[in-house]
Amino acid sequence: MSIDPQVPGIRTNIDRVERLDSADMHDLCDATDMAILDGGGFGWLEPPPRETLEAFWRGVLAVPERELFVVRLGGTICGSGQLILPSRNDESQRHAAQLKSAFIAPWARGHGLARDLTLALEARARTLKFTILNLDVRATQQAAIRMYDTLGYIRWGTHPAYAFVKGEMIEGHFYSKNLKQTDLPKR
Ligand SMILES: CC(C)(COP(=O)(O)OP(=O)(O)OC[C@H]1O[C@@H](n2cnc3c(N)ncnc32)[C@H](O)[C@@H]1OP(=O)(O)O)[C@@H](O)C(=O)NCCC(=O)NCCS
Repeated sequence: MSIDPQVPGIRTNIDRVERLDSADMHDLCDATDMAILDGGGFGWLEPPPRETLEAFWRGVLAVPERELFVVRLGGTICGSGQLILPSRNDESQRHAAQLKSAFIAPWARGHGLARDLTLALEARARTLKFTILNLDVRATQQAAIRMYDTLGYIRWGTHPAYAFVKGEMIEGHFYSKNLKQTDLPKR
């Protein structure tokens, strides 16, 4: 699947990928490093060694319940997000998928790419017949929180000890979206 967000004068697209060639792996690791250094590295607080990061992304591609989407700006991967499907034994939660580890590298922010990535992940979840999309986010990630609020995600809970960052306990918010909802907010 491929979606083409509109950034004037720059080629952009969002693709689901099942493999990464060495150039894409390099770009994805660079984007990840920059997001981690900026403070939004989905768990990592410091960039890991490059071989660890590459092994992480290869692991993501190898897990059948994970679908990886990458965002390209001018052909270069600048962000990604994952759709996590319920495991096969999880029959009672077959209706719900999870949006995880979404980020855009700082140099590519502000062009609407994260919004388009979220909508692409939602579209894929709908195609797979999921009716609920769940996600969670640190309370310090204000840009993401604003985005999920405006995209119709409902905050249903807050975990007071969600993350421990630089000696400080940080809250995390849990969101859910009903994918059957059709009155999506306009851009
Ligand atoms: C959150 C993040 C993905 C946004 O990426 P982006 O491509 O710059 O976002 P977009 O340009 O698509 O903006 C989408 C919406 O996000 C919100 N937003 C984006 N940047 C914002 C900022 N600096 N301040 C407040 N809200 C902001 C707005 O609601 C914006 O919609 P608008 O332009 O109509 O106001 C990016 O800042 C990031 O990677 N942050 C660190 C990782 C993270 O928080 N991931 C989410 C965890 S699940």
